Amino acid sequence: MSVSGKKVLIAVSGGIAAYKIHFLIRNFIKKGAEVQVIMTADAEHFVTKLSLSTLSKKPVYSDFYGDNGSWNSHVELALWADVMIVAPCTANTLSKMVHGMCDNLLIATYMSAKCPVFIAPAMDLDMYVHPSTKKNLELAESFGHTIIPAENGELASGLVGQGRMAEPETIFNVVEHFFNGESHLESLKGKTVLITAGPTYEAIDPVRFIGNHSSGKMGFSLAAEASKRGAKVILISGPSSQLIRDKNIELHRVTSAREMLSKVFEFYDRIDIGIASAAVADYAPKEVAKEKIKKNDENLTIELVKNPDILKTMGEKKTHQFLVGFALETQNEEENAKGKLEKKNLDMIVLNSLRDEGAGFKNDTNKIKIFTKTDKIEFNLKSKDEVARDILNFIENQLLK
Ligand code: CTP
Repeated sequence: MSVSGKKVLIAVSGGIAAYKIHFLIRNFIKKGAEVQVIMTADAEHFVTKLSLSTLSKKPVYSDFYGDNGSWNSHVELALWADVMIVAPCTANTLSKMVHGMCDNLLIATYMSAKCPVFIAPAMDLDMYVHPSTKKNLELAESFGHTIIPAENGELASGLVGQGRMAEPETIFNVVEHFFNGESHLESLKGKTVLITAGPTYEAIDPVRFIGNHSSGKMGFSLAAEASKRGAKVILISGPSSQLIRDKNIELHRVTSAREMLSKVFEFYDRIDIGIASAAVADYAPKEVAKEKIKKNDENLTIELVKNPDILKTMGEKKTHQFLVGFALETQNEEENAKGKLEKKNLDMIVLNSLRDEGAGFKNDTNKIKIFTKTDKIEFNLKSKDEVARDILNFIENQLLK
């Protein structure tokens, strides 16, 4: 499965990165997609309609009114598309998109589109990190759009930082990946999968907590992949900035380990697969101070008590559930992981070693080994989305045994 035969609407706004769009169009055309380009009037300062239409093999539109009194229908353009890609997406176009400021053909088409939307922002580094841009990108994500983040590097201004539009190949890969995912076999149809994700925060006082650096990415990738395969997904996440793009995922946000435990057991009896990817804090303050603790003394001692082990409790109460744990280790990795497999009554454990570069908490990548009581399999360094696919493939194979 690929992009062949798909209808791709590319919307170009006015930034210097517009010159890269030629390569993106060529990629799609070469792979058999149909491409329709629209652009803002400002984009015409950077690239010509002639070059874009030559590559896309279709006329390029930038306003509502064509030659000889004709009308370029934004509704038709929008409904034609299987996907819409806004690239480069300037700060101005992004802002208009999320606030519905519909003053040109590109925005009118975007607002009429029912298909998935991909946004590849491009701007100078200070604009990219400006709170308004950040908020607008968050809004776009909350609409269910996919942001293809800008990359680091030299910018047209001569400054160096994040703001460069993602390379055409990256944009192409994200969209191709989307089309590939769309064609899943629904191999987990009828199954309910519960996933814990992210860190937990254990309150010290009303403003402070004990937590860790877990981003929640691995758990959210697993949830997206399981949902794509047709499973009903219950995602229970500690504090994380990750967002859900899939309406089939039931997301429950919690804060502490105790909250996570009680949420898990609201659903435990009726799940088929439980995957514990959360980085649960092992200890919590014995008392939570009612008021903010003042720095009166030279030393401060906080007494900690052990948190419940959520996964171990799941293991103890297991009836039919297939249970998957994670182990993040820095030494004696395999021995420790196998120990946890046994101790927590798991069916399988995913080991990541912090000694492997690119593995662990904050990265977008992970390098894992999977253990069952009888098998061991080692994977290469991959993106967390690919790792999620490997893990679910492995689980499916185990269920078939
Ligand atoms: N886990 C959990 N509840 C806890 C601690 C851990 O559900 N209170 C789960 C994690 O989600 C993970 C697995 O247990 O799937 C292993 O967690 P880890 O912290 O690596 O192991 P621990 O058992 O806590 O052992 P240690 O911290 O001593 O390595």
